[in-house]
Amino acid sequence: MVVLKSAAEIATMREVGRVVAQTLRAVSEAAVPGVTLLELDELARTMLAEHGAKSSFLHYHPSFAPVPYPGVLCLSVNDAIVHGIPDRRRLEPGDLLSIDFGAHIDGYHGDAAVTVGVGEIDAAAQRLSDTCREALDAGIAAARPGNRLGDISHAVQTVCRAARYGMPTGYGGHGIGTAMHEDPHLPNEGRPGRGLPLRPGLVLAIEPMVVESGSDRHRLQRDGWTVSTVDGSRAAHWEHSVAITDDGPVILTAL
Ligand code: MF3
Ligand code: CO
Repeated sequence: MVVLKSAAEIATMREVGRVVAQTLRAVSEAAVPGVTLLELDELARTMLAEHGAKSSFLHYHPSFAPVPYPGVLCLSVNDAIVHGIPDRRRLEPGDLLSIDFGAHIDGYHGDAAVTVGVGEIDAAAQRLSDTCREALDAGIAAARPGNRLGDISHAVQTVCRAARYGMPTGYGGHGIGTAMHEDPHLPNEGRPGRGLPLRPGLVLAIEPMVVESGSDRHRLQRDGWTVSTVDGSRAAHWEHSVAITDDGPVILTAL
């Protein structure tokens, strides 16, 4: 069921969105060579406490997962696409790191992700991340009344495919509000002019993922959570929670 949000609810979601953005910025700055993924998770936990917010991810237990999610961040390094679990791994110079973070305040959730380089990264990694970010921007630009869900999917897909990148089959964005994952599912590929009409009050997490080799295939690691490429090729992932309003898209998870 698709639930539209009132202006007051969107204002609350803007508040938690700002906490998500601030945390992503702090974790991005802390993601330097030598730091462990668990140390980054600890930083995010501290920031949640400081802002009186709660994690959307910790203990989340969807039916596909063998165990509840153990962290407050998803940290996906190099060939990990999404849902990497923070562990004792140390970041190395040249690593490409996706940082995904969700939080809730007063029962309303925000969800966003960035991809950052650890130290110096090569030009191909930078292009991968930049293209994914551009795909997100294109998706956001299409998130306006009068358009349909397929227009967002198509905008995302067009940017990713023009660069000849892979897009993990079946993964995409989602509605967000009083739950982190709400209807509708938002595929990262679709046909323009098709699907749910976009109306003011619809709030969506838009989240393109791209794979450097061009492969759409992915596999689940033995931890039951981490989704990786099958060929060892690197991936990038960007995400914002976006409200559709009469004035167009409003990025809730911006600073
Ligand atoms: N941004 C991710 C998603 O929408 C966050 C889920 S991570 C989980 O799928 F650990 F909570 F599952
Ligand atoms: Co999400």
